[in-house]
Amino acid sequence: MKRTKICDILDIQYPIVQAPMGWISGAELVAAVSNSGGMGTIGPGVGQEVVSRDPEVVGEILRREIRKTQELTSKPFAVNCPVGRRGKAVCDRRLEVCIEEGVKVAVVSMGSPDEYTRQMHDAGMKVIHVVGSSRHALRAQQSGVDIVVAQGHEAGGHSSPDEIPSLVLVPQVVDAVSIPVLAAGGIGDARGVVASMALGAEGVYMGTRFMPTMECTCHPAVKDAIVSSRDDSYVAYGRRVYSITRSIKNEFTKKFLEMEFAGVPAEELRAFDRYYDPGDDDRHRMIRGLKDGEMEWGAVPMGPIGGLVKEITSATDVMKDLIGGYDSVMARLKD
Ligand SMILES: Cc1cc2nc3c(=O)[nH]c(=O)nc-3n(C[C@H](O)[C@H](O)[C@H](O)COP(=O)(O)O)c2cc1C
Repeated sequence: MKRTKICDILDIQYPIVQAPMGWISGAELVAAVSNSGGMGTIGPGVGQEVVSRDPEVVGEILRREIRKTQELTSKPFAVNCPVGRRGKAVCDRRLEVCIEEGVKVAVVSMGSPDEYTRQMHDAGMKVIHVVGSSRHALRAQQSGVDIVVAQGHEAGGHSSPDEIPSLVLVPQVVDAVSIPVLAAGGIGDARGVVASMALGAEGVYMGTRFMPTMECTCHPAVKDAIVSSRDDSYVAYGRRVYSITRSIKNEFTKKFLEMEFAGVPAEELRAFDRYYDPGDDDRHRMIRGLKDGEMEWGAVPMGPIGGLVKEITSATDVMKDLIGGYDSVMARLKD
């Protein structure tokens, strides 16, 4: 597989980044991807059984996950530092813990690139910033980030209100900035990796594909749902309340969309979702979906590329398929 600038910046062998997934991308998955020559990313909320807004609690749980990852790999890995989630004190503390524990790479999503880039660079960290438009990519570049992720509308989980699909977004972000671009949203196998490189990306950033793996800590029912899903098993909701969320279709998304289209006020939608107003002891819908396996009334974020996956394997095997498959696809294109 081709080496790119991303490999040099992140000090990794292959330009494949496992994207952060809240609650479920923890030490085992992260280490498996990093040990395979890519780079894993610890997601927010990993290790938490309930939502907490206490910076000390969040910080110490993150510290535990970082140390566990460091025991499993000596290779570089990243931590997701979402901006603004659960309040500034929590975000500040997460970053302090990353710096204290010597984390080398931060993936920043959901907020301004101005917030933490300088502090991260001063601590010797590389900064990857997630964007959904070329305008935001330019802003991130101006803030000095090292790499941007062009995250298309088909991505699992939250994505930009601009709703630009990957095939449209990636080449425009590549043309807009001079820093390297990781393509994200809808990449599931080596064909997607080669396509992303053809669009000008210098690597890929993949979430959903790593969910049905042995190392991912989502509930087995979630993994089963992915391997038995099709391309049309997924839906996006939440445009009016926070940001678009792409998930598997279930009773919850059906009801939520009915309410959304009927014009139910945003506060009522938020209350129904409960994700937006969690009390400290709340097991909110995403935990109920991803960790408890409540497949009908939980929120179970994932993207439609899940329809491509037919079996649960190890993340190491996913990486082998991506790396080996890249050369096969390239050879086929040359015929
Ligand atoms: C279950 C799940 C949880 C996610 N949680 C987060 C998160 O906490 N922070 C974040 O920046 N992105 C999150 N994402 C988005 C991913 O980091 C990534 O952008 C997306 O998965 C890429 O698209 P793909 O799923 O088609 O590969 C999540 C995605 C999924 C599927």
